[in-house]
Order: sequence, then C-alpha cells, then structure tokens
Amino acid sequence: MVTLGVNVDHIATIRQARGGREPDPVHAAVLAELAGARGITVHLREDRRHIQDRDVYILKQTVSTNLNLEMAPTPEMMKIALDVMPYMVTIVPERREERTTEGGFPVREKERDLVKAITALRENHLMVSVFVNPDIPEIRAAAKIGATHVELYTGTYAGAVSEQNALDELDMLKEAAMAAHKLGLRINAGHGLNYVNVPAVAAIDNMQELNIGHAIVARASLVGMDAAVREMVALI
Ligand code: PXP
Repeated sequence: MVTLGVNVDHIATIRQARGGREPDPVHAAVLAELAGARGITVHLREDRRHIQDRDVYILKQTVSTNLNLEMAPTPEMMKIALDVMPYMVTIVPERREERTTEGGFPVREKERDLVKAITALRENHLMVSVFVNPDIPEIRAAAKIGATHVELYTGTYAGAVSEQNALDELDMLKEAAMAAHKLGLRINAGHGLNYVNVPAVAAIDNMQELNIGHAIVARASLVGMDAAVREMVALI
C-alpha cells in the first residue's frame, strides 16, 4: 500500500509571517495523523524560514507515525539529527536563495560529503533517504553509499507543460523506481504533487510513500486539515 507523508513546513510558514505561535505545525501534524497520514515530514532549513529547531524536538515526542527530517548534510544539521533521532533523515540539496527545493541532491558530485553523512546516520540506526532526480546513475550511487531509501523528485513531472511531456516524465519515474527496487532501495517520491497529478505517481510499481506539503496545506487553508488529508489519502 502506498502511504502519505504530510509535509507541515507551510503551516510554519504562516506562523513565521507574524512570528507568533499560531498556527503550530505540531497541531497540524496531530490532525494529519488522525486523518490518515502515515508520516510527518519537516525540512529544517539553514535560514529557519519556516520550521524551527523547537518544532523538530517537539515533533519527535508527539508524532506517533514516522518523523522524516529533511535536511542538507551540513555539520550543523547532522548534529541536530543525531540529537533528535527521527525515524528517517532525507538528504536534500539546499540553496539559501531558492524558494523551494529545486531538484535532487547531486549524489555523484558530492559523494564524499554524502558518504560521511550517511555512514554516521546509519551507524546510529536511522533510515536514510536521498532525494534524487529520476536518474539511474544517481540512484546507483545512492545505493552504493548506503542509503536505505531514495525519494524521487517529481517536480519536473508536476511542472510538465503538455500531456506528452507529463507521460514522458512519468516514464522516467517508473524506470527510476524499477532500478531503485532492483538495487534493494525503498522508494518514496515527492515535490509538486497535488490532487490532480498524484494518482499516476501512486500507481508506480513499488512506490512506498508520497511526501506532499504545499497542495495539502493550501487546501487545508480552505477546507481544514482533516478533509484535505483524507481526500489525498483516498486518491493515493
Ligand atoms: N519532498 C521533498 C524532499 C521536499 O523537499 C519537498 C518540499 O519541501 C516535498 C517533498 C514536498 O513538496 P511539496 O510542498 O511541493 O508537496
């Protein structure tokens, strides 16, 4: 069964707009889990533009499914991850000036940094996922250096400019998933998924979890978290 991981970063984005306490991503995580989410994801960014350290520490204690911490493999974030001990760390690339994550981590280009991070996380028994483009050499490299999961970047599929373009991108995701499965990796996917484009990705063989943030929080702002999550779970 394909499961839903809800990314609650943008609940924190709203909170940070006023610098107060509301809305609280911890409350959003509770509601998402009650509505059927099987994981909660947060991205602790270097600039702390949405999720704060406090959120990660409290979520570790309150999440009753699986907490997935997205982070760049920097010394600062490694220290926090090994202190918090989430269920899984997802390694993502990060550029301060980007509005959101713009693609997969360049696994082969930054292999040396990645090996160090993955080894330390695995020695501490954490699951480690690497956010990758649907590119088979990158997936092979992630498997070689000890990742347990890959999360396939679906942003290019989501941004397809025509039906044919979307079908071509979907084929790349299917081939990437097949390769990852043969290498013994578990497969997640995410970025840009919404209520229209999600069913085709959920139908990919061996898909395990879809991590979705923006579309769910956007809908939740109009219909509530419970309805927004239940509708996504039903589609998946
Ligand atoms: N997966 C990863 C690795 C991400 O970086 C993000 C965005 O923070 C998501 C999933 C969720 O993307 P979206 O907000 O577009 O659903």
